[in-house]
Amino acid sequence: MSGPVDPDPRRARLDRLDAEAEGGGGAARIARQHEAGKLTARERLELFLDPGSFVELDKFKTHRCADFGMQEHRVPGDGVVTGYGLVEGRQVFVFAQDFTVFGGSLSGAYAEKICKVMDRAMEVGCPVVGLNDSGGARIQEGVVSLAGYADIFLRNTLASGVVPQVSVVMGPCAGGAVYSPAITDFIFMVKDTSYMFITGPEVIRAVTHEEVTKEELGGARAHAQKSGVAHFTFDSEEATLRAVRELLSFLPQNNADDPPALPCSDDPARRDPALKTLVPDSPNKPYDMKDVLRAVVDDGHFFEVGRHYAENLVIGFARLNGRPVGLVANQPAVLAGVLDIKASVKAARFVRFCDAFNLPLVTFVDVPGFLPGTDQEWGGIITHGAKLLFAYAEATVPKVTVITRKAYGGAYDVMASKHLRADVNFAFPTAEIAVMGPEGAVGIIFRKELSAAGADPAAQQETRQRLVADYREKFANPYKAAELGYVDEVIRPEDTRPRLIRALEMLRTKRQELPPKKHGNMPL
Ligand code: HXC
Repeated sequence: MSGPVDPDPRRARLDRLDAEAEGGGGAARIARQHEAGKLTARERLELFLDPGSFVELDKFKTHRCADFGMQEHRVPGDGVVTGYGLVEGRQVFVFAQDFTVFGGSLSGAYAEKICKVMDRAMEVGCPVVGLNDSGGARIQEGVVSLAGYADIFLRNTLASGVVPQVSVVMGPCAGGAVYSPAITDFIFMVKDTSYMFITGPEVIRAVTHEEVTKEELGGARAHAQKSGVAHFTFDSEEATLRAVRELLSFLPQNNADDPPALPCSDDPARRDPALKTLVPDSPNKPYDMKDVLRAVVDDGHFFEVGRHYAENLVIGFARLNGRPVGLVANQPAVLAGVLDIKASVKAARFVRFCDAFNLPLVTFVDVPGFLPGTDQEWGGIITHGAKLLFAYAEATVPKVTVITRKAYGGAYDVMASKHLRADVNFAFPTAEIAVMGPEGAVGIIFRKELSAAGADPAAQQETRQRLVADYREKFANPYKAAELGYVDEVIRPEDTRPRLIRALEMLRTKRQELPPKKHGNMPL
């Protein structure tokens, strides 16, 4: 807002208040924000939303704190810009924390502003996107600020599974303040300018004598690669906000809505000959499952989630004939695609998200099993692996599975098997569905035959090879499962796209209910 002062004093007052609110913490602090490589809250909203679509709420709301001389310091809006706007023409509610006003710290009034947009979003059924850049609880307000956080956490929890919630961390986010983003569905971080932690480097040094920088501890890279807290990281605020817009393009407005279908120029009947040879002949040779995904989805466009975390399992969104789907895939190129604790938890949360928001699940399976070892066992692979099993079993959205190669042991069951109520299960001719791989199986069930082969290593080797070949012929293929109806169809790999699209069309009107209950007791 700028321009000549209105001659009408009542209008001039509005102009003055508008200018004050829009000026945030003042020119010097805005300059500091820019020097730190960060945009202001209003600049961010302008970048994020469709041009001219932002409608602000509570622009003149101020804090009510009278302690520590705070009554002298009131800025209209009180350090958070809230309201609603459009992303590709679809409505979202937003709040953007303004670090230039009291370091973006959260007061009671500020929390009320955030709660108001969350309440409206729930009433009308729209996503909520929060842009976080804050020094945390406003120290001068004490418990009022803590109460404000809890009011937000409660709303995050109640909104979970009702409207999509996205957190974008664009500056500090520390202490208990991290728990609002943690409850939301997706966290974005900007490299080098954002960080999240429960306790910062100083506290860590004092308590554990560990030396760590802010960036190492809770920067975007740490959370994308080590903790898995951040689902997306980008080099700039612009790229981050563009990606949030893209994420929303896959999502419905709320849990009663269907994900948005787009016109599709990629032929739904397209068969991709490259798929014929993508899965190598040798069962132990790695290949990149993302090549399979890209060969199948519309325009080869796969929007990956959690790219740098538990890379042995791939998740993300794509479209099939214009309709969004959630993809889950073992990644044989990393750790042979094994399921471990991190991969199980990563996939389980994603499966639940898709199920909550009516996104069909398409699962690509090439998994040698769960990762053995004391690290995994003592880390609770039993509990964490069960999360994925639970999530798939509970999901009532359309579930379509493609076994490209290995589906061994418990991991066969877990990865959207027929027995967990997957609707359509495909297998490539290269699929191997068995309790375990041929080498391991032969060592156990043919121990006697192997020792009867005598001490001669050549004879032993020959017997082993023959037994492995027999086993492979009998079990390491999809046909036993197809005979039993556990696999609905063994497909030619090049037909994957048309087959998936046809299956999803057939399933569009799927209705499945869970038994009435308050909620299950997922193994958390
Ligand atoms: C009030 C705060 C503030 C806070 C920053 N400011 N944090 N005001 N409450 N929590 C003010 C500063 O006084 C300063 O005001 C302005 O914001 C910018 O702060 P700087 O320190 O100059 O900025 P910078 O050097 O970039 O450092 C940013 C910072 C640091 C790392 C965030 O300000 C900081 O450590 N703040 C305290 C963080 C903290 O401990 N918060 C409480 C965490 S516990 P002027 O007027 O000079 O511009 C928590 C619990 C949540 O949040 C509980 C939920 C359950």
